[in-house]
Amino acid sequence: MKFFLDTANLDEIKKVAAMGLLDGVTTNPSLIAREKGNFKDIILSICEVVPGPVNAEVVSLDAEGMIREGRDLAKLHPNIIVKIPMTKDGMVAVRKLANEKIRTNVTLIFSPSQALIAAKAGASYVSPFIGRLDDISHIGMELVEQIVAIYENYDFDTEVLAASLRHPVHVVEAALAGADIATVPAKVFDQLFLHPLTDIGIKNFLADWEKAKQTL
Ligand code: E4P
Repeated sequence: MKFFLDTANLDEIKKVAAMGLLDGVTTNPSLIAREKGNFKDIILSICEVVPGPVNAEVVSLDAEGMIREGRDLAKLHPNIIVKIPMTKDGMVAVRKLANEKIRTNVTLIFSPSQALIAAKAGASYVSPFIGRLDDISHIGMELVEQIVAIYENYDFDTEVLAASLRHPVHVVEAALAGADIATVPAKVFDQLFLHPLTDIGIKNFLADWEKAKQTL
C-alpha cells in the first residue's frame, strides 16, 4: 500500500519525504487555507519535495470551470493530480481531462455507486472519506471493501485512495480491505510507528547491556 500525506504543510511533508516513506500528497481547499502563500506556489513547492503524485483540488462547480482549472493545475508539474468533486459536472470534467491524459482524483466519495461512476468517467483515483462516514454512524471501511470488490469485478484501473483516515487502525483496515493508497495527516503517520512494547523492549535491552558491560 502506498502512503500519502494529507497536508499542505511543507515542513510535515519534508520530514516524511526525508525518511523515504512518502509516495504522494493530498491537499484540499481547507488544508491549503491553513498555509501562508499563493495556492500554486504552495503546490509547486510540495512537488519539489515529493517523488510522486501531488493532489490539487479545483474550486469551480461547473464542468467548464473545472476543466479550465484542471488544465492550469496540470501544467504546473507532471506529478499533479487534479482533484474533482463527485458531481455530474465533475464527471464531465473528469472524462474531458482523461481524454487529454490529465489524471484526476474524484473526491468526496461516500457510496459505491459514486465510485463506480467515477471509474467509468475515467478517474485515475477515487477518494472514499472513511472518517466522515464513521462520524455519522456508518462503518466507513465497508465502503472501501465494496469499491475494491467492484473494481476487481470489472478490472478498473482506478486506484482506491482511502481518505479521511483518523487513526492507525483505519490505516490497517484500509490495507486489509485492499486500498491502493492511504492518505493520512502527519499525526496519524507518526502514530503508525508507535508501540509501548517496542519502547519497553529497547529500554530493557539497554539496561541489560549496561549491566553486562561491567562483566564483559
Ligand atoms: C483527502 O483527500 C481529504 O483531504 C481528507 O482525507 C479529508 O479528511 P478529513 O475528513 O479529516 O477532513
